[in-house]
Amino acid sequence: MKRTRILSVAAAAAALTLTLASCSGDGGGTGGDGGGGGDKVEVFTWWAAGTEKAGLDALVEVFDEQHPDVEFVNGAVAGGAGSAAKDLLQSRLQAGDPPDTFQAHAGAELQDYIDAAQIEDISDLYDEFGLTDAFPADLIDRLTVDGAIYSIPANIHRANVVWANPSVLEEAGLDADAEYSSIDEWITALEAVEETGKTPLSVATTWTQVNLLETVLLAELGPEAYEGLWSGDTDWAGSDVTAALEDFETLMGFTNGDRDGLDWPDATQQVIDGQAAFNVMGDWAEASFAEAGLEPGTDYTFFPVPGTDGVFDFLADSFVLPVGAPSPDGAKAWLETVGSAEGQTAFNQAKGSIPARTDADTSDFAEYQQTAIESFANDTIVSSLAHGAATPVAVLNQISDATSKFTTGASDLATYQEELAAAAGE
Ligand code: GAL
Repeated sequence: MKRTRILSVAAAAAALTLTLASCSGDGGGTGGDGGGGGDKVEVFTWWAAGTEKAGLDALVEVFDEQHPDVEFVNGAVAGGAGSAAKDLLQSRLQAGDPPDTFQAHAGAELQDYIDAAQIEDISDLYDEFGLTDAFPADLIDRLTVDGAIYSIPANIHRANVVWANPSVLEEAGLDADAEYSSIDEWITALEAVEETGKTPLSVATTWTQVNLLETVLLAELGPEAYEGLWSGDTDWAGSDVTAALEDFETLMGFTNGDRDGLDWPDATQQVIDGQAAFNVMGDWAEASFAEAGLEPGTDYTFFPVPGTDGVFDFLADSFVLPVGAPSPDGAKAWLETVGSAEGQTAFNQAKGSIPARTDADTSDFAEYQQTAIESFANDTIVSSLAHGAATPVAVLNQISDATSKFTTGASDLATYQEELAAAAGE
């Protein structure tokens, strides 16, 4: 089940990055003191608005208490799942203008930055901050490359969750508490909602469609073969992948027509507002239901994507120390707060995720989050495609392009499957 990757040491890229970094380093006005620049920290994320910003704000509040002498500079760039932030970050890194710290997903996405020598080994901070035993061994494993650790995880999110509006389901004559054991069973319910004129399944722009796709692949293939898609053990050209893509096509047929112009909060809002019955979304959606003041179980429900019960489709946001950061001391202060039990409790309670630390206080966490804590501890864990755990950014970008072509009618299913196989290097 474990992915193994062959590490390519990009020595030339490393040298180039270091050279560029040493010639620059303004980083939005945070540097320039010639030392560790510990008075400010530019934190680059995509948590620019709404409940995601509220999560960041909760973390900043703890940061301000723990490090009153370091000014937080918000470098957030809007766009769910880093859809705009990642490109901009890449340009800045290549221009030798890194922020002091940035958000990156644990797993394959982090590997890109490591291979390009864009981030520092921060293993010593694990000793300094006493983090080594604070995180689950499996997570530390996913963060460790050749004995080194390059980031500190802020959270753990689950990507294979369906969120539902009970009133819309009842209006369609469905049992609002029903869970569906397979995509096929679920499709029968989607047909019933369609009869009412409401949107059966809300979705938004391409990355949310890829999030849906990964859960359908997981449902159809099972966790082992799903992980095999990323290790090379599962054949992308196989008939089980074809069956999954057929399901994906069917599900997309139940979605809202305005999807490509929306981001995730809009799609989740359609369920909150009773325009749509279901939304497949990572559990940052929990924060939207909570913010709307809805009661779990009565005003909204949640369950694993049909066919994926017992599997936790995992991703973790983590923070890094870029090579050439103008304010490494400021970055270290931020990383200390990110890794602290207080920081993890405040941030995750607001964000819908669960702490990466096993000792953070979660007693006040919402009902959904309690289910996630339970699932993460006991279920099979697989890596999210849409959120950087399963593949490098370049592969995800190709998969996203192929998905967008398919869902906008610019390619047929056979072509889509071929393009996915090509993206994965088959
Ligand atoms: C994910 C990220 C989450 C959340 C989501 C939607 O990639 O890990 O924290 O921000 O995107 O933007």
